[in-house]
Amino acid sequence: MFADRTNWKFDENRLSEALARRRRAGQPILDLTASNPTTCGFQYHAGAMLRALSNPKALVYDPDPRGLVPARRAVVDYYAGHNARVGVDDIFLTTSTSEAYSYAFRILCNPGDEILIPEPSYPLFAFLAGIQDVKLVPYPLIYDHGWQMDLHSLERAITGRTRAVIVVHPNNPTGHFATHSQIAGLNQICAARELAIIADEVFLDFALTETAAPTFAANDAALTFTMSGISKICGLPQMKVAWLVTSGPRELKAQAVERLEIIADTYLSMNAPVQYALPTFMDQRHEFQSQLMARVRKNLSELDRQLGSQRACTRLEVEAGWYAVLRIPATRSDEDFALFLLDSEGVYTHPGHFYDFSADGFLVVSLITPAEDFAEGIGLLLSTFDD
Ligand SMILES: Cc1ncc(COP(=O)(O)O)c(C=O)c1O
Repeated sequence: MFADRTNWKFDENRLSEALARRRRAGQPILDLTASNPTTCGFQYHAGAMLRALSNPKALVYDPDPRGLVPARRAVVDYYAGHNARVGVDDIFLTTSTSEAYSYAFRILCNPGDEILIPEPSYPLFAFLAGIQDVKLVPYPLIYDHGWQMDLHSLERAITGRTRAVIVVHPNNPTGHFATHSQIAGLNQICAARELAIIADEVFLDFALTETAAPTFAANDAALTFTMSGISKICGLPQMKVAWLVTSGPRELKAQAVERLEIIADTYLSMNAPVQYALPTFMDQRHEFQSQLMARVRKNLSELDRQLGSQRACTRLEVEAGWYAVLRIPATRSDEDFALFLLDSEGVYTHPGHFYDFSADGFLVVSLITPAEDFAEGIGLLLSTFDD
């Protein structure tokens, strides 16, 4: 009865099973993967948010395929803060960046067409692409005192069916930005071959470096779709607001926007209350982001302090984002180690292979974990390497 594209593996993986077993048995868990900002102890202005959601204007149905203008203006202002001029009509609001990806895939790809994705990266891509009948082709990120895109390998991965290159800027979980010269190289490759750039910037605001990395939102050398949303930048994943900004050579951009408008008009997926509330949510992001960055810096310095007194485990460089990648001895598979850590110490981490690291020996931990849990969990993790 069902389409082949839905023939997923429905069994839980061994780690999720072990986690569920532990929860059922009421055993303690130190969750070093915590990434839901609404349950990590950050303070929000609840009253102002709830008032913003009860705007009487939302009682009238007056949809716009791109999203209501006051909401899109808040997005224009956001990019002005990143020194990028974005036109209010170049923005489409969506319920999530996942939905924004689906719009971009839909206007770019016929079934079986290919999109290049960074590896390692965020694990949702396989599902997003599979649902749209798009084939993902990885291009490697390489680590040498910091992560970088390997533009030669990227170029070699291009085939006659390639339609776009995804750049996660900064990438999850490696936490690195594309550099100016990599962006220039990518633009050259994409412009010459009529490939689009899809830039996922959900972590753009969470830089640990002094100088802010530029957004792709005004990138005009190649057709570019830049996406972000309030899940991360305001810490409000439950509000379901994200966006897609189109930029690029004038004619291509006009054609893309025309097509996006039909898709968006077909779904009209945004609800009115949340759109009227968006300017308020966006105003509150600064306070949220400073709390979050304080947590990230505290956990990172605790991590470094504990790593300093042993030699088995190190951490990779991180420029931005909510995650740290740990290098551990590859004496068994990452999944086996993560399982052992959960069973023996009650510490839950993500094995590198969840993010398609090319080899064993990597664990990913969330830097927004409440600080006490983080310190205790890292201590227990490192104790497993004691002789
Ligand atoms: C790189 C990246 N893009 C997108 C998302 C999802 O964002 P949204 O909630 O807007 O779909 C995540 C969530 O973790 C992410 O890590």
